[in-house]
This record gives sequence, C-alpha cells and structure tokens, in this order.
Amino acid sequence: MPRVTVHRKAHFNAAHRLYRKDWSDEKNFEVFNKCSNPNYHGHNYELIVSLTGEIDKETGYVYDLGKLKKLIKIEIEEVFDHKNLNLEVPEFKDLNPTAENIVVVIYNKLRKHISLSLDLEVRLYETPRNFVTYSGN
Ligand code: NI
Repeated sequence: MPRVTVHRKAHFNAAHRLYRKDWSDEKNFEVFNKCSNPNYHGHNYELIVSLTGEIDKETGYVYDLGKLKKLIKIEIEEVFDHKNLNLEVPEFKDLNPTAENIVVVIYNKLRKHISLSLDLEVRLYETPRNFVTYSGN
C-alpha cells in the first residue's frame, strides 16, 4: 500500500519571553538579545501538522482532515492562541518557550491522540523565515 502524507496548516498568535530565571538580566540579554525583553513580545506562529500512513481501503483517507482540524483547534489553538506562553501555558512554567521547545510540546499534545500506525511531524514557523520541525526522534 502506498504511504501518503497529509498536511494541515494552522496558526496562533502568542507572546513569550526567552530567558532563564537563574541568569541575570545582563546574561539573558547577552544570550537571547531582544527576545529576553522583560515585557514580552509576540509572534504570529504558523503550524503545519503532517501525518504519514497507508491509505485506508474503505475510506481512501490516510486521516480525516476534518478530524485533524478539530484536534489542532482543541489541543493547540485553544491552549496557545492569544496567550502569554510563559505565564498562561503550564508546560512553559519552567521551560524556555523557544520555537524548539514549543514544537516538542505541540508534538506531544497531538501524538497521544493519533494512532502509532501514523508518523507525525510538526513544523512550526516563528517568523516567515525561521522554522523548526520535530517528528519525535
Ligand atoms: Ni520571540
């Protein structure tokens, strides 16, 4: 059976601050530059969720994209959109909300709802030119 990848795009807006509590403001600025601004800053995050698997003989689908849309809405958009990631998303209470850490959190939230017979990859754009991907490795 051919294995096909289906993709769903989504987006959310969120604020964050990159810093370590155990570092001085000077050290945080040295490492994270203006991303360490104590008053936070925002991004328009773009997300691409990709599922790879065999085409179901009965439905002709790899995964129902309507179902994936709902899953992303409930698990990701409602949790992240218009939020301050540092203050309002519990996963980032003690985890620096870099794009790298955000993509892993998103992956883990989705992975538990998706059959292991499907490969999952999450691509997260923090800006149009800066993006990260994670597929559980
Ligand atoms: Ni930033």
